[in-house]
Amino acid sequence: MHQGQEAPADILHPDLFEQGHRKLEQRTATISVIGLGYVGLPLAMEYVHAGFQVVGIDVNEARVDRLNAGDNFIQDVDDDAVAEAVAQGKLRASASFDPLDVADIVFICVPTPVTPNKDPNTSYIEAAAYEVAAHLHPGQVVILKSTTYPDTTEGLVLPILEKSAATQGLVLGTDYFLAFSPERIDPGNTRFHTGNTPVVVGGVTPRCTKIAAAIMQQVVAQVHTVSSPKVAEMEKLLENIFRSVNIALVNELARLCDRMGDISMWEVVEAAATKPFGFMSFYPGPGLGGHCIPIDPYYLSWLARRYDFETSFITLSAHVNEEMPFYVVEAVLRGIAAQPVALSEANVLLLGAAFKRDVDDSRHAPIFKVAELLFEKGVGRLQYNDPFIPELALPVKGGPLELASVPLTEAVLQDQHVVVILTDHTAYPYAHIAKHARFIVDTRHALRHVPHDQDKVWLLGGGQS
Ligand SMILES: NC(=O)c1ccc[n+]([C@@H]2O[C@H](COP(=O)([O-])OP(=O)(O)OC[C@H]3O[C@@H](n4cnc5c(N)ncnc54)[C@H](O)[C@@H]3O)[C@@H](O)[C@H]2O)c1
Repeated sequence: MHQGQEAPADILHPDLFEQGHRKLEQRTATISVIGLGYVGLPLAMEYVHAGFQVVGIDVNEARVDRLNAGDNFIQDVDDDAVAEAVAQGKLRASASFDPLDVADIVFICVPTPVTPNKDPNTSYIEAAAYEVAAHLHPGQVVILKSTTYPDTTEGLVLPILEKSAATQGLVLGTDYFLAFSPERIDPGNTRFHTGNTPVVVGGVTPRCTKIAAAIMQQVVAQVHTVSSPKVAEMEKLLENIFRSVNIALVNELARLCDRMGDISMWEVVEAAATKPFGFMSFYPGPGLGGHCIPIDPYYLSWLARRYDFETSFITLSAHVNEEMPFYVVEAVLRGIAAQPVALSEANVLLLGAAFKRDVDDSRHAPIFKVAELLFEKGVGRLQYNDPFIPELALPVKGGPLELASVPLTEAVLQDQHVVVILTDHTAYPYAHIAKHARFIVDTRHALRHVPHDQDKVWLLGGGQS
């Protein structure tokens, strides 16, 4: 039964809907979070803090064991809070899905990657949905949090749940509930966290929306409800595509500034940012990274093709952003060529394996493409440093190049022909780097606050042709 067809709450088992609300008020609702990653574990902790009993479920047994030992593995989550929650029995992890038998609320927070051809890979959502279906019971509320294309909740998850519901005679919106509520967590952001970031909720039926909104209200200050899961799914993609398109715009203008040779894009953005309305600052960089911005736009362009529709902005921004690592590598090669060293003898140090400042997440980080291209070109030796990522496997031809982060000693820096700043971690000793490196490719304007010899630095978008 879908939106608009829903029976009034007082005709069909009104008690389950009311009972759900009562359990929330009394903090007796049991919560399961499927997928204990960057999204799932912080969410689980929010409900622990709000006074609920939470069970995290993950197919990664190492994560399950660590969590049950009270050992946190997500950077933004407080170590002591996890240890305490586990010790007090408020949080536990399971590799089995059996806890779903007694879960009143189930969040699905599994990955949504793309295939090598950049089509959506919803297999993780499907796998989780089948597990939920196998344990579906009266009163259960299922909330999908994974970022995905519009219609995943209704077109993919719902049919899986409906089969199980039909065998039990359960009716959606009356006996069980399904909604989509996209995640907005921003790892490393110290200003905005779950508690002060509004969330969007779209249920399959009005009562699904209502109960899912009430659930989210337990941990966030503001819930914005929309008319369907599709709107919520599209809204999340709009947020991420908005970033991708604007980053592409500044990347393109940065390259134009470099071509023109006398305008710094960084100075331009700084000046534009003085406008108090109608402008938002985005900065050039070595390419997109993370689990969201380089991936999510493809979910929409894939869906659009079903409707004989080309999402031109997505294609164009992907094109511009995907060129950036190539552009950075050209600058590195120019830096090497200007020195009395053969390419095959040149040493390059890459600073930053994380996709953005001060996080420990290297998924889709620019370092991978930059390293692959430099390796292909035949650079003599590649090293990297990242204070948050001690080891890294770089996907180069002939198998992954297993590297350990090297210390940023004077000797290590002096030994490099080019040092490339890919991530502007706060902890980097920029003055020390500027002093000892022979040549620096700065893709983040990271040296702006330290004295440096401009002749030995190439700043991406800095207007040096
Ligand atoms: N990381 C972010 O900042 C962020 C922000 C907003 C939205 N999202 C979205 O949230 C979703 C999750 O992202 P993430 O960064 O938390 O991913 P993650 O890789 O950090 O965590 C996902 C977890 O799910 C587990 N998992 C995979 N399949 C499973 C299954 N069938 N059953 C149980 N567990 C399973 C994995 O082992 C892993 O621990 C994605 O759709 C992502 O796009 C992420």
